[in-house]
Amino acid sequence: MDKFVIQGGKKLSGEVSISGAKNALLALMPASILAPGEFIFDNIPDLRDVRTMSRLLEMMGLGVSIQENRLYIDSSTINKFEAPYEHVKKMRASIYVLGPLLARYGEARVSLPGGCAWGPRPVNFHIEGMKKLGADVVIEHGYIVAKAARLKGTHITFDTPSVGATGNIMMAAVLAEGITYIENAAMEPEINQLAHFLNKMGAKIHGIGTKHLEIEGVQNLNPAPIATIPDRIEAGTFLVAGAITGGNITITNCIPDHLRALLSKLEQAGCIIKVERSRITLESPHTLQPVSLTTDVYPGFPTDMQAQWIALMCKAKGTSVITDSIFTDRFKHVPELNRLGARIEVEENVAIVHGNGNLKGAKVMSTDLRASASLILAGLIAEGETEVLRVYHIDRGYESIEKKLQKLGADVRRIKTEEF
Ligand code: UD1
Repeated sequence: MDKFVIQGGKKLSGEVSISGAKNALLALMPASILAPGEFIFDNIPDLRDVRTMSRLLEMMGLGVSIQENRLYIDSSTINKFEAPYEHVKKMRASIYVLGPLLARYGEARVSLPGGCAWGPRPVNFHIEGMKKLGADVVIEHGYIVAKAARLKGTHITFDTPSVGATGNIMMAAVLAEGITYIENAAMEPEINQLAHFLNKMGAKIHGIGTKHLEIEGVQNLNPAPIATIPDRIEAGTFLVAGAITGGNITITNCIPDHLRALLSKLEQAGCIIKVERSRITLESPHTLQPVSLTTDVYPGFPTDMQAQWIALMCKAKGTSVITDSIFTDRFKHVPELNRLGARIEVEENVAIVHGNGNLKGAKVMSTDLRASASLILAGLIAEGETEVLRVYHIDRGYESIEKKLQKLGADVRRIKTEEF
């Protein structure tokens, strides 16, 4: 078990390169099930979730190997159509194998993910979508057991846009007979990349980047190479790290367009932002202004940046109100931030942050990936020493975060500990 020990108070400066997007790659890798053959994925982040997905695919018989930041998958050796509980409980994105298995092999047995550290996260859209495509789906002993001869095109409308269900159903529909329409589809960049990748493999998906997807089923798909898009949440987290420490930093290898909502909020907080092709430079103001916001589906402010924004608002001069409209229970970081001296109240899905910038180092506990990021950010400005325990959560989604922060001048060390 590792922990981070942070000495707060260092202004960050310099450049940091952004890694490939976890949430894009976790959808791209299972897409390899759809076309037996050899795939090459570039710009691979070294993350625990990527290793978990690799193990899951290997367990299903696929060949997976990683060399530096390139990943190879040979999907022709698949011999098992199951995602066991042991994998799904570690990583909910394991459910992405459901659609491809059903479409390509007509059967899938995938464990139900259950709840999340911060609350319930249903998968009913995934299940209902597969049923609408003509699959027989039953829940047996905690598993989704699905079977279909050949899926058939249909109309699916989501009550609310779901990233995972859009991706899963898209992967099922590409090999279905006829046309599938998905209304109120997710428009997140990671889903758009998945759709472009599937088209490169021979699929016929129209309306990419809009709420209306039209998927014309084809008979076969072929392997295609792909480079993972940069991680917009990692990029956003580093921009906030620059801003919270009063520093001036540049992030490179990013897609600024994917960060529009965050950049606009950072500007409202007083930061000066300069955008170039694949670089963003942030100059911090003398005093950060409080900025309220509500998370929303893309292109709105991402729920995956809510915890980091709350940490930033602890430094602002004044009160801000942060509402999470996507995951209404996602505030496990708040009591830990309060242990560092923050003054945050939570009522239902709303956090009221009374910024004072006066945090003091303490031991705090990571509870989930983005909560960990917010605690590290708070540790960067807390007076004295902050210990963030259970950083295995951060290793799921941030590649070498402590090394990248050290390069920017932060005093962060990873230490082995018996503490849990
Ligand atoms: C993905 C991201 C996660 C991000 C989230 C929202 C991955 C691997 N994870 O998660 O980092 O925080 O999008 O941007 O890409 N919902 C249902 N029923 C369903 C599915 C979803 O009610 O079957 C609801 C959820 O409870 C939530 C909303 O839809 O309120 C959006 O969730 P969704 O977009 O599906 O999140 P994930 O794909 O799980």
